[in-house]
Amino acid sequence: MPNNHFYDRDIVSIKDFSKADLEYVFSATDKIRTMKPGERGELGRGRTLGYIFYEPSTRTRMSFEAAMASLGGSFIGISELKSSSVEKGESLADTIRVIDLYSDVIVLRHPMDGSSRFAAELSQNPIINAGSGSEEHPTQALLDLYTIMKEKGRIDGLSIAIVGDLKYGRTVYSLLYGLANYRVDVHLVSPPSLAVRKESIYDVQGKLKIKEHHELDDVLAHADVLYVTRIQRERFPDVQEYEKVKGSYTVDSATLEKAKQDVAVMHPLPRLDEISHSIDHTKNAVYFRQAANGKELRAALLALMLNESPPL
Ligand code: NCD
Repeated sequence: MPNNHFYDRDIVSIKDFSKADLEYVFSATDKIRTMKPGERGELGRGRTLGYIFYEPSTRTRMSFEAAMASLGGSFIGISELKSSSVEKGESLADTIRVIDLYSDVIVLRHPMDGSSRFAAELSQNPIINAGSGSEEHPTQALLDLYTIMKEKGRIDGLSIAIVGDLKYGRTVYSLLYGLANYRVDVHLVSPPSLAVRKESIYDVQGKLKIKEHHELDDVLAHADVLYVTRIQRERFPDVQEYEKVKGSYTVDSATLEKAKQDVAVMHPLPRLDEISHSIDHTKNAVYFRQAANGKELRAALLALMLNESPPL
């Protein structure tokens, strides 16, 4: 069993993960999937996951809940801020200090960049960043990379197109930083006003071969993965700017005809109109399998964080 250095550790940025760390989490995920419920149910027994979501969530919150339940643990949390003391003006710092008193691990989603790093400095128990502004969403990247590995059998050598809102989409940044551990060609496709933030390109330059495009058609012939993202309306300082770029790209049957036969279409979800429902039944539609992997991967990650020497 490799040394588990996830035990009692914060998950704030995917940049903190080496390639060996990523592979350890993937192999733990493979193992936990094959465990009998009784055995799996020991890994979180008597432990509590506490969460607070300052922004909406469906998959991230529910998959953490389902993951913790599958480990035999329990969860408590706030996703309706109006019914919490945040509504009375309680600070993030005080809120985190109190959740820390009631939980063994804390999941936080917050609209500010840096929020999870800040929370990690305050809490005794480990923090998991479930989305910090448009900065990062590291567990999404873990499940995205795991999904690519499962669907394609490898990550090295692939051509990966990331499409949509590359300026505000936090899943994009975590994915890019994670991919920097592999030998991949990355094609970034966005409207000019939604290109990846320059400082992040500098971070991964030299590690990744990156090309920027504006047209989806430019990348279809060679992409092994199309990672499609939603235009993040809520992060636009000016709604008129959003109106200009909404609906920029749509992946539909006509798109698939121009793409590689086995292209994996991924999306962190929720989707709006960027992937047509008409392709949901195709083998290329990976996004729901991707969401399913989220539960298993988060269960493995929690098991590693909560147990010094889990049988994983
Ligand atoms: C993403 C997020 O919150 O960043 N959702 C998710 O966790 N799957 C993507 C999005 O909201 O577009």
